[in-house]
Amino acid sequence: MRRSDFEKDHYAIRGGVPLKGEVAIGGAKNAALGIIAAAIMTDETVTIENMPDVRDTNVMLDAMKAIGVIVDRVDRHTVKINGSLVQNVNIEFESIKKIRASYYLIGALLGKYKEAEVPLPGGCNIGSRPIDQHQKGFRALGASVRIERGNIIAKAKDDRLYGAHIYLDVVTVGATINVMMASCMAEGKTIIENAAKEPHVVDVANFLNSCGANIKGAGTDVIRIRGVEKLHGTTYSIIPDQIEAGTFMCAAAVTQGDVLIKNVIPKHLESITAKLIEIGCTVEEFDDAVRVRNNGRTHRTQIKTLPYPGFPTDMQPQAGVILSLSEGISTITESIFENRFKYVDEITRMGANIKVEGNTAIIDGVSKYTGAHITAPDLRAGAALVLAGLVAEGVTVIDDIHLIERGYEDFDVKLRSLGAMIQKVDDSKAVQRFTLETAAVS
Ligand code: EPZ
Repeated sequence: MRRSDFEKDHYAIRGGVPLKGEVAIGGAKNAALGIIAAAIMTDETVTIENMPDVRDTNVMLDAMKAIGVIVDRVDRHTVKINGSLVQNVNIEFESIKKIRASYYLIGALLGKYKEAEVPLPGGCNIGSRPIDQHQKGFRALGASVRIERGNIIAKAKDDRLYGAHIYLDVVTVGATINVMMASCMAEGKTIIENAAKEPHVVDVANFLNSCGANIKGAGTDVIRIRGVEKLHGTTYSIIPDQIEAGTFMCAAAVTQGDVLIKNVIPKHLESITAKLIEIGCTVEEFDDAVRVRNNGRTHRTQIKTLPYPGFPTDMQPQAGVILSLSEGISTITESIFENRFKYVDEITRMGANIKVEGNTAIIDGVSKYTGAHITAPDLRAGAALVLAGLVAEGVTVIDDIHLIERGYEDFDVKLRSLGAMIQKVDDSKAVQRFTLETAAVS
C-alpha cells in the first residue's frame, strides 16, 4: 500500500451488511468555516457550539491562532474565539492554502480592518473554482483588490467601505457569504442579488445577526445588509450538516438497511428525500430526524445538481454510487462543477458501468460490486467510495481517507455503530488481519 503522510490513511471495508440503528449528525462543516472566519469580526468573545471536529475546521482554527486569535476549545464540539488581538491582516499560515474556506478570511478581515492579505484558496480539485465574484463584491464596496505572490490583497480606499447594489453573475455560496461579511460594517445599505440560498449561507447570516449585524433575506436570492458600527460577542450553535445527513441517508438506502438519522433539519434534506423515495426507498420525517429504509433493488432516475433547494452537488457522487446499482439506465448531470465525476473510475474497478460525456454521466445499473483497492479522489467522492465498499462483495481498501476526514467526523465509528464492517488500517498486514477476522463473522 502507498505510503502516506497521515497515519492509518486507509479504510478496509467488508460489504454486505444492511445498516441498522440510529446515528447522530454533527455540525455543518460549510457553515462552521464561514462562522469561524466571521467570529473574528468582533473584539468580544464568541462561543460556538456544535462545532464539527473535522480536518477542515481544525485547520481553520489553527490558522486563526497563527494570526493571534485566542482559540479555546471548551470541549470537542464547543470553541471560544476572541479576535481582539489579531496582530496582522496578512495571513502567512502555510496550511491555510489547503482549504477552500481560506477566502472567508478576506471578507472577515476586510469587513473589520478594511484591509486583508490572504493566500489564494486550495480545496478539492473538483473544478477551476474561480473567485471573480468575490472580487467583484469587494470592489463594489469600495475596496481595491489585486493578486500578488499567490495572495489576494484587498484594501478599502480611505479606510472605509460603502454599501452597494451587487448582482452576482453566478449563484455562489462563497461569494455570498464573503460579501455578507465584508458589508456588515460598511457605511449604508448593501443588496446582494442572485444570492446563494444554502442552509449554511443562512447560518452565517444568523450568526452575524446574533453578533449585532443587520442582515435580512438570507435564504432568498436577495439579501439586504444595513451596515452597523461594530459587532459584539455571542453564543451560537451551528446547524446540522445537510451533507453528512444526506450521506448517511444514502448509506441506509444502498445497503438496503433501516437507519434513523438524528439531529437533522428535514427541510434541508427535501431534495435528497424526494429522490430516495422516487427510486423506491421509504423516508419518514420527524421534527429533528429522518428514517430511511430500503428493502430491494432501487429503480433508475435522472438527477441534475442545482443550487439549493435543488439536488446538492455535494451529494452527487453518493447518488452516483446508488444509481450504478439501480435497475435500468439513469443519468446524472453535474451543473455546478466541471470535474466532479472522478469517483467513476474508482467504482468502475468494482464493476460499475458508467459513461461520462461532458457534465453528464450515463449510468447502466449493474447488480453488484466486487471489492477492490481504490483511492479517494476528493472529499465527497471519497465518501461515495465508502458507500460502494459497504455493498461490495468481499473486501474493499480505500487509500487517502484523510480527504474524507476533511468533512466527516468519526465516519468509520458511526458506520460501525450501524453494523458496518469498516476499519481504519495503516498497512497490508492490517488489511490481511481485517480480512481474516471479518471473513469469520460475515
Ligand atoms: C461551497 O464551495 C462549498 N464549500 C462546496 O462544498 C459546495 O460544493 C459549493 O459551495 C456549492 O454548494 C465550502 O462551503 C467551504 P460556489 P464554493 O462558490 O463556495 C462558480 C464540500 O464538499 N464560481 O458556490 O467554492 C464556481 O466555479 C465542498 O463540502 C464562480 O464562477 O462554491 C462553481 O461553478 C466541495 N466565481 C459555482 O460558482 C466565483 O467567484 C459554485 O461555486 C465563485 C464561484
